[in-house]
Amino acid sequence: MDVDDQLGSYRRDRPGPIAGSGSGSGSGSGVEGAYGNGCPYSGARAGSTGAAGQAGGADSGTEDFDSHDPALAENPFPAYARLRSRCPVSWSRAWGGFWVATRHAEVSEAGRDGVFRTGHVLADGTLQGVTIPPLGQTGRLVPLEEDAPRNLKFRKLLSSFYSAGKVRERMPELRRLAQESVDAVISEGACDLVTALTLRVPGVVTMRDLGLPDDRWFEIDSLVHQALLAAPHDLAGARDHAQRITMALVEELDVRREYGTDTTDRSLFPLLLAGRVDGEPVSDEDILSMLYLILLGIDPVSSLTATALLHLAEHPSLRARLIADPALISRAADEYLRWMSPVQGTGRTVAEHVELGGRTLRAGERVFVSWASANRDEAVFADPDTVDLDRDISGHLAFGAGSHYCLGASLVRALFTVMLEEVLTRIPDYRVSNRGAVTWFPDITSFYGVTSLPIRFTPRSG
Ligand code: HEM
Repeated sequence: MDVDDQLGSYRRDRPGPIAGSGSGSGSGSGVEGAYGNGCPYSGARAGSTGAAGQAGGADSGTEDFDSHDPALAENPFPAYARLRSRCPVSWSRAWGGFWVATRHAEVSEAGRDGVFRTGHVLADGTLQGVTIPPLGQTGRLVPLEEDAPRNLKFRKLLSSFYSAGKVRERMPELRRLAQESVDAVISEGACDLVTALTLRVPGVVTMRDLGLPDDRWFEIDSLVHQALLAAPHDLAGARDHAQRITMALVEELDVRREYGTDTTDRSLFPLLLAGRVDGEPVSDEDILSMLYLILLGIDPVSSLTATALLHLAEHPSLRARLIADPALISRAADEYLRWMSPVQGTGRTVAEHVELGGRTLRAGERVFVSWASANRDEAVFADPDTVDLDRDISGHLAFGAGSHYCLGASLVRALFTVMLEEVLTRIPDYRVSNRGAVTWFPDITSFYGVTSLPIRFTPRSG
């Protein structure tokens, strides 16, 4: 598959989930007319038992937010702002119904409180997990889709590999990779920054962590896109792509199970094969699931960096400030994380009746926890839509909250920093060559942000 095929798959449009209604929460796409009249906290959820008569009515407390709505792909933030001001914990009728938490206070609460589960299993054995709708699978992403205390046992296995100290030791390697990536295009004066740099660098790093050859990053990441984009409309297709990824990982696992690992093996395998959970070796299924979850870290790193570089191309004074003071780049990582939130939100299942933002959520109901909306909450961040390198960003929730807080956080900051340093020092005059050719993820379900960034710059010999 070539680059265009891969990026083409990002651009596909897909049908919405509420037949004939549109999903109603896109920028200016129906919220105002249909549901925008307020959100009384006494309102029952539309479409649930006894409340059908109120479905979509002015008093229903319903805003049909749907992360699968392509209208939200480029700019979901006005929709969040409406929800925060009118209906901060609202009910959406999409995908069988779920709650949407949008203010910083409730998002933090749902992220941290054990009542909101990531690994809920239905009576028929299917997992609810962190996707809305659930994908009907029985296997889970470990440790993300395990609840406390079991998740912490797996988390402990991975955390030493991705600790701040370990990432610091890897800085020369990360810097070299960013340099090589820019070396490959610098004499040409033009490139797509995503395939040349922002996707390639985390892609290669991840191949190394997974024990795969560097040059498989593109093929494997393409399979990840296909799996993510197929779900939830084509579950069989999604499973098929996921299966092909798993097979690549199984081959590596089998080799190491048979021949063992040695000190030259810098991947996660030595650690995972030696690891114990409750005194038992970690099962193949759990190892593969952890590796799969690590693979999902490539795309948000790329979209964070590419979206920041697009923003900097359009805000010359900010770019000039970072060029003059590169020490600010690591601060910029967190401010861009807050501002664009590459992982916009994840799902939870309510384990028992609970109050959230004045609404009563019932056991078994699902909640979309919007990290992105919390990060634009004007009650916490002044002028939240502006990128401000001087603000206090300590409270952002782009990496989640609580016991599932992103294990890759230090690596993400390091990758962002080396890639921005490389661009701003070696091709500082880059400009977007064709704004119309910039592409975004087709919806905000898995990831948000730029997926193609064609640029031009003054060519150099190296
Ligand atoms: C900009 C890039 C990234 C963002 C914005 C991001 C965001 C997140 C968020 C929001 C969560 C929590 C989800 C939830 O609670 O439902 C999470 C969990 C996780 N992330 Fe990341 N992530 C990024 C990159 C990475 C990378 C590169 C790795 C790989 C090292 C990684 C590994 C993980 C793991 C293993 C978890 C699950 C942690 C647990 O359940 O204990 N992430 N990430």
